[in-house]
This record gives sequence, C-alpha cells and structure tokens, in this order.
Amino acid sequence: MCGIVGAIANRTINAILIEGLRRLEYRGYDSAGVGLINKESQALELCKSVGKVQELADKLENTRQQGNVGIAHTRWATHGKPTEVNAHPHRSHDIAIVHNGIIENYQELRKTLREEGYEFISQTDSEVVAHLIHYHKQTSASLLEAIQKAIKELKGAYGLACISEQDVDNLYVARKDSPLVIGVGIDENYVASDPLALRQVTDRFVYLEDGEVARVSTTGYEIFNKEGKSVERDIEISRDTVESVDKGTYRHYMLKEIFEQPKALKNTLLGRVGNQTVFEESFGSEATTIFDQVKQVQIVACGTSYHAGFVAKYWFEDWAGIPCNVEVASEFRYRNPVVQDNTLFVTISQSGQTADTLAALSEAKDANYLATLAICNVAASQLVRQSDLAFITQAGVEIGVASTKAFTTQLIGLQLLVIALGRRARLSAEREKQLVSNLTDIPVFCAAVLQLNNTIATISKHFTEKHHCLFLGRGVQYPIALEGALKIKEISYIHAEAYPSGELKHGPLALVDSDMPVIAVAPSGDLLEKIKSNLEEVAARGGKLYVFADENAGFRNDEQTTVINIPHCPQSIAPIIYTLPLQLLAYHVAVNKGTDVDQPRNLAKSVTVE
Ligand code: M6R
Repeated sequence: MCGIVGAIANRTINAILIEGLRRLEYRGYDSAGVGLINKESQALELCKSVGKVQELADKLENTRQQGNVGIAHTRWATHGKPTEVNAHPHRSHDIAIVHNGIIENYQELRKTLREEGYEFISQTDSEVVAHLIHYHKQTSASLLEAIQKAIKELKGAYGLACISEQDVDNLYVARKDSPLVIGVGIDENYVASDPLALRQVTDRFVYLEDGEVARVSTTGYEIFNKEGKSVERDIEISRDTVESVDKGTYRHYMLKEIFEQPKALKNTLLGRVGNQTVFEESFGSEATTIFDQVKQVQIVACGTSYHAGFVAKYWFEDWAGIPCNVEVASEFRYRNPVVQDNTLFVTISQSGQTADTLAALSEAKDANYLATLAICNVAASQLVRQSDLAFITQAGVEIGVASTKAFTTQLIGLQLLVIALGRRARLSAEREKQLVSNLTDIPVFCAAVLQLNNTIATISKHFTEKHHCLFLGRGVQYPIALEGALKIKEISYIHAEAYPSGELKHGPLALVDSDMPVIAVAPSGDLLEKIKSNLEEVAARGGKLYVFADENAGFRNDEQTTVINIPHCPQSIAPIIYTLPLQLLAYHVAVNKGTDVDQPRNLAKSVTVE
C-alpha cells in the first residue's frame, strides 16, 4: 500500500528518496511523488506522476530540482482516483505532507477548513492534514506545536511526514496505527514507513510509538509522546542483511520466490529443531511458562496467512487434541468472541503490518487471552513488537504480491507450535520425533516437486481461455485448495472457488461441465478413497479433472483426467508439499494471460488500511 520515505542531509537527497520509493514499490501503488526543499533557495517544490517510480524518477531528473530536505510517497488509492493531483505530497502554502492511512473524519475537517478559507484541489482524505497543520501554525510557536495540535483532531490512522519552507532545518513525522521509523545516519537522518526503504543508507533505526511526533534534523532527532513530553528511545540495529530486491535470472519475483522455498523452509527450521525435538525457545524466552498454561488456541489472520492458520487447526485438533479456532481478522475485530480461559491468541502475517490483523491483536490485548503470539516474517514489525511471543519465519523479503514462500514457512512455524503445545497434551515423544524428522525432509521434497515446473507450464495452457475453475480438497488439504484458488484468482483474474470435495453434491456440482476445470489435491492418506469417489462424480458429469496426486495413489490419465504425480511424502508435510505445484499452476496461467504477475491489478502487498 502507500509508502513514505524522507531524508534531511547536507547533500542532495534525491537519490535516497527515489531508491527508497523503489524499495517500497513492490507493495503496490498507483502514483508517486516527492516534495523537496533546497536549503539555499528555501523553496518547496513538488514533483508527482502516475504509474511506476521510474516515471517519477525521469520526471524529477528533467526538472533538475535538488533537495537537502524532502519527503516522498507511493500511493495506493483509497479516496480519489490515481491522478497527479491526488498523488502525495499535498501542499498548504509553505507546508507539504505525505500520509499513509485513512483520515476517517476528513469530511468534517474539510468543511471546517473551507469555512476558514482553505481551498481543496484533490479528492483525497490526506489533503486536510496539510491544511490543518497550516491552520494551526498560524497560532503556534512552532511547526512542531502545529503538528501536535493537528493530530489531536485527526480520527483514523496516520503515518505522516511534513516539511516546511519556513523550517528547512527539520523534518517532522507522526504516527498512529500506521508504522513509522527514523533511520539514523552520520550527519544526516531519514524517515520511512518501512526500514526496508532505508537499508541502503543505514542499519540503525528508532521506532516511533502510537501518538508520537518526532523532529528530525541532520544532527539528531527528538521524539515527543502524546502529552508532548520528550522521550528517549534506544536505537535498534537491523540484523537483516541488505537483501537483494532484484529478480536475478527469474522473469518474475513470484517465480523466484516459489523456487526459493527449499532454502526458506530450511532456514525457518534452522536452530528451531534438533535431536528430533522442537526448541520452544524459538517462540520467545517466556514461551515455556506461557505454553504450560495453554488449553486452547485462537488464530487470527488475513488472506493467505488465514489459510495457514486453517491448516494448523486440523493439526492442533487432530494431533494434539487442543481446541483451535481460526478467523479472518476483519471479522474477528468487530465481534465479541467468547474467550475461554487459558486461550493463546495467535496472529499470522507475512508483513506484520496488516491493519485488520493489528486491530484484532489490539482487541485481543484488551480481552481475557492468556498471551499473544505472532508468527511473522518481519522481526521489526508492529505485530511482533506488540505481541508477548513471536516466531519469526525466515522466508526472506517477499516481493511478489502473491504470497508463496511466506505461506509455506508459516506452516513450518505453526507445525512447530502444534508440537510444542501438543507435547503437553496428547502428542507423544515418539510422534514428535517422527514429525520433526518429516519436517527436516521438506526441503528435499520441495526441490523434487519444483522439477514439475515444465509439466505444469504445459498444463497451464488449458486454463488460459477459462473464466472459472473449481479447487477441491478434503481434510487438511481443503485449506490448501482455498490457497490454490486464491493464488489463481489474484494473479490471473480467473474466478476460482475452493470446496471441500464432500460438499460438491450440495451445490457446486451444478457448475460442472466440460468448460469448468476442476483441480483436485489428492495426497495419500485416510481420505484418498473418498476423494476418488468425489472425482468420479465430476467425471460422470463431463468435467475436466486436473489431479495433483500421490504417485502411488493409482490415478490414471484419460480423456477427462490429467494427473500430475507428486512424489510420495509423509502425510504430516503433504499440505506444504502440495502447495508448490498449485503456486506454479497459478503463476503459469497468469504468465499465459499476460497479467502483471508481481503487482496484480487493484492489490497491494501490505494491506495497511482497513
Ligand atoms: O502480510 P499478511 O500476511 O498479513 O497479509 C495478509 C494478506 O493480505 C495476504 O496474505 C494476501 O492475501 C496475499 N496477497 C495472498 O497472496
């Protein structure tokens, strides 16, 4: 979604801002802009463009504007179309701001500010912030005071950066329910909505808390809390390596990330298991004390991360005998769930920035949960920072909007959690050994499944002209079918639905004809015979079947059935292994259709607004 970068230096900062925007580009956006002040001329200049960051970079180059203090933004439209006028920064006289989040009371504020003589040129909610700060500046001793007054009037979520022609030695930031970080440099400092945007210039970060405002200059920074009091905050050194954000030899990030899974899964297990047991300290130093008290689990997440949670429900109840509920965060946050004693509240998120998941966590902290645990790919994220316990998946930076390696590494984290809690319930030491041994074999199975890439690319051609398809799975493979359907719809724009295959004759069978491809996930296991009869029902109605089946399951290719044989693997890891061919199928269908695979239309990588 939207991204913020800012910098203040004694040198030209154009390149820092543009590189920062490029690093945020993968999250999805529709327009971008910069606001620059040159300390010599003391003039504020804006440059904006619709489309890719490269277009903004070219435009800025042509204007020859050079700034020593500046703010930049990538926008994902919420209020108003993606146009130059709606792109940030927004200006009010000497002031320019960039804003992430949504100002819920912007209509009321607009009305009041109009009455005060302010003119609005954009359709955005963000423009009110610029005018509101300017309005308060007229009666304030400083820009800092004006910002502090303005944010008191804002309802909703905001990450803000602000500069002024009349205060060229400072850059200001403020946040509520939207992340903001100060990057600490030598004789220059930076701000961003995500440290990733600044990793090319620093590894030292200071995280702002909700309600805080900071004044940043070339020589330092000062943070003020909600009450306006100056607060001290430690600098955190980022342990992330400066990861390459290029595609290497791959055509798309998504394909690169699919192929990175053997390594990502191995890294996620590294140091978390040994001697065929799970090291529960991987969840945090307090894990043992908390885990000893857990009687049930509530999982909350969105999208793909929700599907990971849904898989874990089967594992928790089947292997460990621990009751587990799973719910999408946008629903959970607005209802009043009954909280049973000793319930562990688990959130799952790739980014750790998803607005609904963060809001659900905040609700949970006010309710009677035993403790909160985040399974997350970003160690420095708000979700991790606000949870009692955390398991950091080691997927590495995921750029493609379609989540791939984040999902399978989440499944590893969840399986380790099931084992750690399950050993206090009905999971025997013998079973734990077996499960851990199966987990350590995962990278090898994944590498074998990835060999099917060319086969799946060929089969994918059958889908290019289709408008709909059905995904079927049973038991723990039903969430995998849901994930397969989500992948195909988000990047190829083909309408896809997933059903537990036993539900077919309760409705969806009516949709089946020769034009409706039906994709089934059929590993070996207790439900294999049931799946086979469900697929017979499809074949009998002239449906075209694509079966991802265990190589020993006895499926045969015929006129109606295409079988993709998957190497025989233990049932406990089958959900992870069967995910990969479904990711490849979605990828190749999208490539055939010529969609924007890594940045599908209307979507963003991190959904930081409600
Ligand atoms: O960062 P998160 O895991 O919290 O994101 C949740 C969803 O927005 C995300 O999984 C989304 O569904 C993916 N684009 C699916 O591929």
